[in-house]
Amino acid sequence: MDVTGNAFVTGGGSGIGKAACLALAKEGASGILVVDINVKAAEATAAEAIAIASNPSFRAEAFGIDVSVEESVKKAVAHMVQSFERIDYCVHCAGITVQSATPMAEASFSEFQTLVTNHVHGTFLVNSHILAVMKTQELKPVDTATPYLGGTRGSVVNLGSVLATWAAPGFVPYIASKHAVLGISRTAAIDHAGSGIRVNCVCPTWVDTPLFDRSVKVIPGLDRETALSGIPMNRLCTAKEVSDAILFLCGTRSSFITGIALPVDGGHDICRV
Ligand SMILES: NC(=O)c1ccc[n+]([C@@H]2O[C@H](COP(=O)([O-])OP(=O)(O)OC[C@H]3O[C@@H](n4cnc5c(N)ncnc54)[C@H](O)[C@@H]3O)[C@@H](O)[C@H]2O)c1
Repeated sequence: MDVTGNAFVTGGGSGIGKAACLALAKEGASGILVVDINVKAAEATAAEAIAIASNPSFRAEAFGIDVSVEESVKKAVAHMVQSFERIDYCVHCAGITVQSATPMAEASFSEFQTLVTNHVHGTFLVNSHILAVMKTQELKPVDTATPYLGGTRGSVVNLGSVLATWAAPGFVPYIASKHAVLGISRTAAIDHAGSGIRVNCVCPTWVDTPLFDRSVKVIPGLDRETALSGIPMNRLCTAKEVSDAILFLCGTRSSFITGIALPVDGGHDICRV
């Protein structure tokens, strides 16, 4: 893979964010700032990434962040610039699941606000502060052998969900907030395409992570069996499979792709039930 730059990974302490950090380290990244509200988990990921890194000058650090608080995001991005200088990739995986599954008429406003604060405010803040830095970075050739491809100042990958583009019963806080994540990604992609920055969204179905386990505990009727209904490949996605899509969108193999919602879903999107 062609991912030799520095990455800022939110939610890097667990699940998909952790898998993305480990994949980046394995595939040759030069540095990662693992940021998470759970600093101990971010530290553990940074240590694991260092242990498996293929780039001899690889460095990883952990830093505490609450993606929904502007001062916290500003501090983490400033730390990234101070310690690693350039931000080539931003992988925004911090996120939460619902606390209940209720029809719209009974949906809780406070739960709606919690999901909007985490996913919508978080995606807005992380993207806007990262893009402000990327915009000022030197343009690097996408491929020195093909000058026609122009230059890149960075690539941002946000975690959406299959529920960023369609709906399912009982999940209005999650669905509304993930639709907004996609809206932010698409707008950022258009706004910054001319600066050599790409912004994309990865949209998985159920992924086998701690978030899935927490969802099973609070969503009546959801278990490993029922989660598979509607997924033609008849299994859960793995965090590694999502990280493969993330690395593709970070690197130059996706140099003409921006503003997309990439399903990673075993066919769920084309076979909704
Ligand atoms: N697991 C799935 O089935 C699934 C499916 C589709 C989309 N997603 C999305 O993928 C992303 C990652 O999910 P995951 O399954 O890896 O979950 P996870 O719970 O394993 O990891 C999420 C990480 O985000 C961190 N986090 C949560 N709120 C934060 C905040 N305010 N500030 C900083 N860090 C915070 C947590 O501490 C945790 O380390 C989420 O956006 C989720 O909505 C997950």
